[in-house]
Amino acid sequence: MKVLITGGFGHIGSALIADLINNKKIKEIIVIDNFITNRFNSYINLKKKKLTVFDEDILNFNFNKLNNIVDCVIHLAAITNAEKSFEQGAKVIRYNLNGTRKVVEFVKKNNIGLIFASSTSVYGSQFKIINSKNNLVCLNPQSPYANSKILEEELIKSKLIKYCIMRFGTISGFSDGIRFHTAVNKFCYQAAFNKPLSVWTKFYRKKRPYLSLVDCVNSIHFVIKKKLFNQILFDVVTENLKVIEIVSEIKKYKKIKINYVQTKMLNQFSYEVHSDKIINYGFKFRGKIFKDIKYLLKNLIC
Ligand SMILES: NC(=O)c1ccc[n+]([C@@H]2O[C@H](COP(=O)([O-])OP(=O)(O)OC[C@H]3O[C@@H](n4cnc5c(N)ncnc54)[C@H](O)[C@@H]3O)[C@@H](O)[C@H]2O)c1
Repeated sequence: MKVLITGGFGHIGSALIADLINNKKIKEIIVIDNFITNRFNSYINLKKKKLTVFDEDILNFNFNKLNNIVDCVIHLAAITNAEKSFEQGAKVIRYNLNGTRKVVEFVKKNNIGLIFASSTSVYGSQFKIINSKNNLVCLNPQSPYANSKILEEELIKSKLIKYCIMRFGTISGFSDGIRFHTAVNKFCYQAAFNKPLSVWTKFYRKKRPYLSLVDCVNSIHFVIKKKLFNQILFDVVTENLKVIEIVSEIKKYKKIKINYVQTKMLNQFSYEVHSDKIINYGFKFRGKIFKDIKYLLKNLIC
């Protein structure tokens, strides 16, 4: 099997490639990444066997040269910072949507499966717990980033292709392409370097869905292995936690200060997302957010 990964050198992609490279059934991993976020470390540290790399932007990439070569596509490339997306809303939506449009055209032409990395942020604030029995939930995005995910999902659904949309919770955990601007990783970084934890005041006691990187990678692997491309949508969340619970856990390892800050994010309510659908398909969650915290702090603190 040959897989194409867009945005493969980012936080999720670098962990995914490191995992897939050891899978005997995967014969080749083709990566398109324009290194827009400069995570060359992800590439340098990887075993290069089975790897073909295009240092290109998917918006300009000639996908025709990969026709009849690839068996499935994992589309991760995007502008990914939800908080910063307020400063460049139209750009984020245009960039992410146009990138996905090109990937979808390629998938359709080649009649192959697509895994799309969406986000639980599409739910925004909700009063009900979100699970597979609660399908009537209205999406309520709270940032241009979340808006772009909804538009990309709609585009994918409208094209009658083979797809699996995976709505990932906020990722925690280490990879060579690690990012530090999502909650758990950011707090661990700040704690380790004696900076006050920048906590969004209105989110402190609100529950949010988090996904351990271990579960994220395993769930993508699971979808590929089971060929779950029958126009399916999964919520993928390890645990729903309050920020105060994450902060309390960090306090067990490090003395910290908190700096309460405002955010442009509109969301003021708790929301919980359960992953019963993918569990019913046989997927087992093995990650633990508190385990990720321990590992990150152990490796970050001098
Ligand atoms: N990390 C999270 O908490 C999280 C949660 C839910 C969903 N997601 C989604 O999962 C996907 C991967 O997330 P991540 O955390 O690894 O992101 P990331 O920002 O760490 O990685 C994205 C990668 O894509 C590359 N890239 C961006 N635009 C590109 C383009 N036009 N052409 C080629 N390469 C491009 C970047 O260089 C980077 O290596 C994204 O779509 C993101 O929205 C992430």
